[in-house]
Amino acid sequence: MENINFDEIKTKNPKKIAVIGTGYVGLPSAAVFAKWGNNVTAVDVDIAKVEMINSGKMPIYEENVEEFIQEALANKNFIATTDYALAVKDADVVFIAVGTPSTEIGTADMKYIDEAAFSIGQNLSEGKYTVVVTKSTVPVGTNKRVTAGVLKGANGRAVNFDVASNPEFLREGYAVYDSYNGERVVIGSDSEKALDVLSQIFEHLDTVIFRTDVSSSELIKYAANTFLTTKITFINEIANLCERVGADVKSVAEGIGLDARIGKRFLNPTEIGFGGPCFPKDVNALYQLGLENNYEFQILGSVINVNKQQMFRFIERVTQRFGSNLENITLGVLGTAFKDNTDDARHSGAIDVIRQLRGFGAQLKVYDPMALATAKQMLGEQNIEYVDSYENVFDKTDAVIILTEWKQFKDYDYENLVKNMNNPVIFDARYMLDPNKAKQSGIEYYSRGRKVL
Ligand code: UGA
Repeated sequence: MENINFDEIKTKNPKKIAVIGTGYVGLPSAAVFAKWGNNVTAVDVDIAKVEMINSGKMPIYEENVEEFIQEALANKNFIATTDYALAVKDADVVFIAVGTPSTEIGTADMKYIDEAAFSIGQNLSEGKYTVVVTKSTVPVGTNKRVTAGVLKGANGRAVNFDVASNPEFLREGYAVYDSYNGERVVIGSDSEKALDVLSQIFEHLDTVIFRTDVSSSELIKYAANTFLTTKITFINEIANLCERVGADVKSVAEGIGLDARIGKRFLNPTEIGFGGPCFPKDVNALYQLGLENNYEFQILGSVINVNKQQMFRFIERVTQRFGSNLENITLGVLGTAFKDNTDDARHSGAIDVIRQLRGFGAQLKVYDPMALATAKQMLGEQNIEYVDSYENVFDKTDAVIILTEWKQFKDYDYENLVKNMNNPVIFDARYMLDPNKAKQSGIEYYSRGRKVL
């Protein structure tokens, strides 16, 4: 990744911006808007979070966010608050970045969006023009729901607003980098005036600002995320096939990725499927949106099924090697985060795998560079020892399994580390090691669809 000179990139049209929600979307967005020179107020209902942020400490880890917020707090162009009035009154733009968790049937739960829209309506200044923007991933048609919510909150006062959509395409762990370096900014509204105001927030960036209507913008977000899940699932299935026909999935991915129509990115296979707070939720939500509109989105149905099966295939690998009673087996685990560079383990395939293996009676020694505390909260202590160094994971264990694609996992000295194990067995669900080197080092190496020359 190239270095960015953050201090040089500033807005030409500073705005008063409110950001509702200080999670993985809201907080990095607020930090970046402030760094660009806008006057930003972030709102959260959680007072402890708000106080923490105002003292310069961040409730989540995301590169650069802490330093941006600390700088903006010192410059007095950022504050966090629980008080909607402070944030929304006189705001030019209000971004809604609250969570839309999955309901039991896979649709997006709109409770927090509704609450935010209502509170915004209660606090908009009369007469002042404000653009109310959804940044959260929301079903098509949410703009109408937000309009209705704002009007309900305004309760007859003469508020002057338009709704718009500005989906975020930030990857966790790279949110700030992606905010400066995104390939496009999508803004959607049925009001030209709203689109003009919104585009001023991004026009200093060297990127395409794509203007469209609000429903298309809402759908672009789901379509983008679910297209990527389809791409990952495709290469995961290629890996399953490579295993059977004796081909090498990494070579196949590279070979097809060289075709610009296909592209190299998001072709990293994973034996445990994709995870995280966005992809599984979004693929389910778009599938459900299809059903609600009398359309069965068949590809997405398959993506959902294959992704579920991936994990069980992986577990089967381990039980085939050690038997399905793992009571006398100690497994070392590298990685609990749903991907590298984040402390987030929500819907992490790694967490599911650990649960399953524990269910078979295994003892586990678990390490992650950042997401260990989150994992502990989710999994508790039964059968699990959380260790603070990766070396420990190899110490007297029967096998090591690699579940997250942390870049540093590639560089460990496996040849020597396995000497401390009971058996030199590695299950590499994230394709981190070179299988030929592993073999030369005497490692009993498992990774689906790899060819040892
Ligand atoms: C994803 C999208 O990439 C962002 O563009 C989007 O803004 C975000 O969701 C969101 O909707 O908020 P994120 O979930 O942070 O970002 O992480 P990704 O890097 O996309 O990874 C998601 C999952 O796919 C992880 O489990 C990761 O390990 C897996 N993955 C990713 C693969 O298995 N193979 C790949 O080649 C890429």
